Amino acid sequence: MTFLFNSDARRGAVFQAAFARDLPGLPFSMDPATVDPDSVRYLITWTVPDDLPRYRNLEVLFSIGAGVDQLRIADVPGHVKVVRMVEDGIIRMMQEYVTLAVLALHRDLPAYLGQQRSADWQALPPRQAHERRVGVLGLGMLGQAALERLKPFGFPLSGWSRTQREVAGVTCFAGADGLRRMLSETDILVCLLPLTEETRGFLDADLFSRLPRGAGLVHVGRGPQLNHENLIAALDGGQLSGAVIDVTDPEPLPPGHAFWSHPRIVLTPHIASVTQPETAARAVIDNIRRLHAGSDPIGLVDRRRGY
Ligand code: NDP
Ligand code: OXD
Repeated sequence: MTFLFNSDARRGAVFQAAFARDLPGLPFSMDPATVDPDSVRYLITWTVPDDLPRYRNLEVLFSIGAGVDQLRIADVPGHVKVVRMVEDGIIRMMQEYVTLAVLALHRDLPAYLGQQRSADWQALPPRQAHERRVGVLGLGMLGQAALERLKPFGFPLSGWSRTQREVAGVTCFAGADGLRRMLSETDILVCLLPLTEETRGFLDADLFSRLPRGAGLVHVGRGPQLNHENLIAALDGGQLSGAVIDVTDPEPLPPGHAFWSHPRIVLTPHIASVTQPETAARAVIDNIRRLHAGSDPIGLVDRRRGY
């Protein structure tokens, strides 16, 4: 029985040390070329390797990230459990990034960066936090964590999910009607939805038109959820005032893409949150212990829902 690590060597070394310490009975390999494919029961990876069928005895496919769309689950044999990454490091980094982005939009940073480039010293009318409503699409591990971190600032907070949720201090919405209501009361919208057939192309002209004029967007879900042309049109037409974009389609963006130079877009290269090997190794080891004890792992993906 082997655990195969198929990701970068730096994080692999941390995983290897943690496995040697905490699960010494489970052989750990970072080298698919030397491992006996029949011994591989657990695989951790970002995307599914082309030679997946070699691992005939694979039981669990761990995603090295919180998202699982890149694994193309439909191609993974039905008996293999797919588990997304649920670990403290990802949560903390996403809390930092969403806070940074919401505050940047709240304090008009994209506009001030533009003014700096044109040597324009001009104060814009400030708005207080209690006058800026923040809505989060997705009330899962990361959406709820981001909202928690935003609470002390005093923004009125809301969130939207597929099923109705209850989160203290957050007005929760669900379903199509709930979405419309939340959007109409949201000044800064944060997308933390997983990529599924329902959420592909979700951030489009229709959705932007339902936000109050001048709203801001923070996109940290997945690139294919955002219609790039619709975002540019909404920014140029004033329906949106600014956007902080961490995920795009494709990644990286091609040279000359409008996002690189748009004065109202702050762009980062899919770094909002990154799996931290120390905490991630602990989470995976705990999950293997749960599996050995006959329990479901934390983060088990529901194949029907796609997340
Ligand atoms: P979770 O699975 O914990 O939560 C997903 C949330 O989205 C749930 O609240 C779910 O609703 C809701 N949701 C899913 N589909 C729909 C839908 N069709 N309509 C309404 N709500 C929906 O995911 P995480 O919070 O862990 O992660 C979210 C995403 O963040 C990841 O899938 C990944 O794409 C992205 N991510 C981006 C990173 C970056 O660096 N930019 C880093 C890490 C993750 P319900 O509660 O009802 O199930
Ligand atoms: C993730 C990511 O899903 O980094 O973890 O995007």
